[in-house]
Amino acid sequence: MKTEVIRIDENNIDMEAIRKAGEILKQGGLVAFPTETVYGLGGDALNESSSAKIYEAKGRPSDNPLIVHITNMEALAGIVSYIPEEAYLLAEKYWPGPLTMIFNKSDAVPLTTTGGLETVAVRMPSHKTAQALIDAAGGYVAAPSANRSGRPSPTVAKYVIEDLEGRVDMIIDGGEVNIGLESTIIDLTGSCPTILRPGFITEAMLKEAIGQIDVDKTIIDNNSGQAPKAPGMKYRHYAPRGNLTIVEGEPEEVIKYINEKIGVLKKDGIKTGVIAADETAGRYLGDEVKSAGKREDEEAAAKHLFRILREFDDDEVQVMFAESFPHRGIGQAVMNRLLKAAGHQVVQV
Ligand code: TXA
Ligand code: MG
Repeated sequence: MKTEVIRIDENNIDMEAIRKAGEILKQGGLVAFPTETVYGLGGDALNESSSAKIYEAKGRPSDNPLIVHITNMEALAGIVSYIPEEAYLLAEKYWPGPLTMIFNKSDAVPLTTTGGLETVAVRMPSHKTAQALIDAAGGYVAAPSANRSGRPSPTVAKYVIEDLEGRVDMIIDGGEVNIGLESTIIDLTGSCPTILRPGFITEAMLKEAIGQIDVDKTIIDNNSGQAPKAPGMKYRHYAPRGNLTIVEGEPEEVIKYINEKIGVLKKDGIKTGVIAADETAGRYLGDEVKSAGKREDEEAAAKHLFRILREFDDDEVQVMFAESFPHRGIGQAVMNRLLKAAGHQVVQV
């Protein structure tokens, strides 16, 4: 398949190009596009065969459900069987934006889109290009992150092209995304709203809107003995090709530990990388040392993490170490992704 790559500026949207992309989706084709969180791999959410194509292009197990993207509340009513009160409160505050809510689905949504589940995940993105595309496609676009299964989610079009060229009809390049980590997912189908995946909309922000909420234990703790409630969270994910270890402790101890390890690895001719903060990046001896931003800036870490993991792959870094980041706010989401990327290899020093 020949993939057309087009550039669309969010602030000056080329509606002719959007119309063409929308037409591809309406015909059952696939279009990758930017959102405020990460790039998405879009297909018509109400078309069974489109969902099947998404799974194939991504190389994703088909029991892993897709998020349906919409642009207005009327559209929500068409795909769910019931809208709980909390959904209105959350939508009021955080839609459009980086929040996905899970509902009981209506018959309009094929089981191929939901990975066989009777529930459906729905998100209203704030990215203007995404919104224009969804409208042009008829209102319902199923879109997982636009990476091959298991790889870090793409935050720039370059990595969408790397993963999906030849496998989708069109890729819309909208430059670098804003947030850099996937949306927060909250399940509204149980007795208490439950966070299944942390993201930019934090636990505190959700509590502010609806009061009591639970958090799926598997989000940070690998040893909870439970299976994650979001099927996609059980897979090894976001993984760089090399081996990644997170090192936690006092900054001076962390630097000393990592540099000692690097010294040994270098003697064996192994290429090393370090994910650090601005304050410490200059202290490491790794072949490649990348800063995720200022130590106390979790939003910067969120924005840069996936790109750094991809760059290490580009440069064939074999062994990587990462400092730990503060867990507050979006830091919880950063650490959730970093722990997965590291296959939960953590060293305390
Ligand atoms: O920010 C995002 O959410 C991005 C952009 C493109 O919107 N999308 C995204 O999709 O991250 P994906 O497919 O990579 O992740 C969706 C996650 C998976 O872990 C999946 O298992 C979970 O959502 N999920 C989807 N539908 C679900 C459902 N009905 N019940 C439980 N988990 C669900
Ligand atoms: Mg994904």
